[in-house]
Amino acid sequence: MTSTGESTSTSIGIEDLELAASHHVLDLGALAEARGVDPAKYTRGIGLDEMGVVAADEDVVSLGASAASRLLARTGTEGLRTVLFATESGVDQSKSGAVIVHGLLGLPSSVRSVELKQACYAGAAAVQTAIGIVARRPQEKVLVIAADVARYGLGTSGEPTQGAGAVALLIAADPALLAIDPVSGVYSADVDDFWRPNDSTTALVNGRLSISAYKNALLGAWDDLQAQGGPGVDELDAVVYHQPFTKMAVKAQRFLDQHTGGRLDPEALEQGAVYDRRLGNTYTASLWAGLAALLDHRDGLGGRRIGLFSYGSGSAGEMLTGTVQPGYARPERAAATRAALDERVPVTVAEYEELHERLLGSDEDVETPRVTTAPFRFAGVQEGARKYVATA
Ligand code: HMG
Repeated sequence: MTSTGESTSTSIGIEDLELAASHHVLDLGALAEARGVDPAKYTRGIGLDEMGVVAADEDVVSLGASAASRLLARTGTEGLRTVLFATESGVDQSKSGAVIVHGLLGLPSSVRSVELKQACYAGAAAVQTAIGIVARRPQEKVLVIAADVARYGLGTSGEPTQGAGAVALLIAADPALLAIDPVSGVYSADVDDFWRPNDSTTALVNGRLSISAYKNALLGAWDDLQAQGGPGVDELDAVVYHQPFTKMAVKAQRFLDQHTGGRLDPEALEQGAVYDRRLGNTYTASLWAGLAALLDHRDGLGGRRIGLFSYGSGSAGEMLTGTVQPGYARPERAAATRAALDERVPVTVAEYEELHERLLGSDEDVETPRVTTAPFRFAGVQEGARKYVATA
């Protein structure tokens, strides 16, 4: 460290993380039956068993605040000077989810707050931004929240790939979970594979194009990683992928194996898919839920290097790599995540459809029903502004 507090060379990455699930869950077998589809198309064809469904008093802010409050209850807030909120289903066109979470968590005014967007890629962009901040002043910590509610139209081919969830990550120097390498591979290309216009509450998507755009970003980011002198495929124990549906990770690993001539461990795909199979697509949070699942289900990762591939439609991709730290296993956190998924309250297809179509405008005051038992809830709209409260 220099006299001005700037870093010389420090290991930076994920100190701790926490996943928040929605209050409700829909069994995809029930959705398949209602849509006249073979359930195996969902469970085997796309690799999803359930999807998270938000209650009337939940949204990305309440999910993100709930994940962050549990995380900070463990880590404390010493050194925290930035909150970055990554989402593509934000609740306001101007005010960031970060500043609302900042208020809900009672953080001091000397903490900056901002929201980032580039489809599902914004979570990785927030992590890289956080690393840059910590690299300048290693005594600082950054709270990154990736939270999304994925919505497609009822009865569309995207419908079974909806979902909801949030992951909060604390980025710090000398991290306890994952030290992220300075070199990464990046890729950007302007593609209309998936987008959500300002006047639409559901995403528009060209499914086939989205899969080929994902592939181009994956291979482009991989090639850039190699050009930047990053690790080769033989140096990676496993790769975790953005998982809009878990079969996408299986396809991605096949594309990567064909491209590199290597063979990444297929068992790691299953380990990294345990939570995403039950959450559905959580957009910005999906990759980090995959990382949480890998850390919770793969033994012997301490000291091993892994890859993390983030894809955001539109399109941006990044292949990060990092070294899992010795002592990374957190059985208590893993049990809490399992319980959060198991304790979600099932909804019928009719109840899910009603929640899906329930949209609140800003032109009249509304109080939402008390449903969620998470630490924070969306209480309603007053004079056009969304209001959030602690549930306890
Ligand atoms: P689809 O047309 O409903 O399904 O669309 P399909 O006919 O392509 O079938 C899907 C798979 O199920 C196929 O397997 C079938 O063979 C299989 P594949 O050939 O791909 O290996 N299948 C069966 N398997 C077992 N038993 C059966 C059966 N029937 C069929 N009976 C699609 C699927 C994913 C395109 C659609 O759900 C969709 O459009 N989803 C949304 C877009 C998406 O998730 N794209 C992924 C890449 S883009 C991305 O990741 C970014 C994103 O997260 C957003 C962001 O960045 O913001 C989406």
